[in-house]
Amino acid sequence: MTSLVNAQFSPITQDIVESLMSIEVACHPHPWTEKTFRSCIDGRYFGNYLTVDNNTVGFYVAEHVAGESTLMDICVAPEQQGKGYGKILLLQFFEHCKQQATKTIFLEVRAKNISAQMLYINQGFTEISRRTGYYPSNTGFGYEDAIVMSKKL
Ligand SMILES: CC(C)(COP(=O)(O)OP(=O)(O)OC[C@H]1O[C@@H](n2cnc3c(N)ncnc32)[C@H](O)[C@@H]1OP(=O)(O)O)[C@@H](O)C(=O)NCCC(=O)NCCS
Repeated sequence: MTSLVNAQFSPITQDIVESLMSIEVACHPHPWTEKTFRSCIDGRYFGNYLTVDNNTVGFYVAEHVAGESTLMDICVAPEQQGKGYGKILLLQFFEHCKQQATKTIFLEVRAKNISAQMLYINQGFTEISRRTGYYPSNTGFGYEDAIVMSKKL
């Protein structure tokens, strides 16, 4: 169980995006560009990053529209994975959603991304549909399905 004694959540602002890009790039074979990341701040978007002992370990970005929230991205720095931080970020995301009167949360995950799927399934998400060949494959050849998941709050 991860200790939260020195853990802190902070809202993602434009000022912090550049420093989060190293985690984004390290976590995804097809990461967001900094421009895309910056376009997902403010307005209908929201996000928080998690620091532990003043070290940024991960973040999430989401969108809220009319009672529905979509998790756009969640990342834990590779060297910090498997310590419970992904779960802590997801639980904080749920709290934020509740404050915004979210009724349903949606997300998409690569069919081969088992660690993310386990995180989501363990927190009550269920598969509602698949988008065939939605993502370019991590190998650089072909495509990979997207699994669409949802959870009622
Ligand atoms: C997905 C991700 C955020 C998970 O973060 P994490 O800090 O490693 O996850 P945690 O240590 O909090 O584990 C959360 C749960 O998932 C399970 N899990 C995590 N990795 C797993 C794996 N490789 N195999 C099986 N289960 C796994 C854990 O057992 C844990 O279960 P619990 O809820 O019963 O405790 C992290 O792997 C990541 O950043 N991946 C790259 C980016 C990414 O794919 N994001 C998701 C995009 S849809």
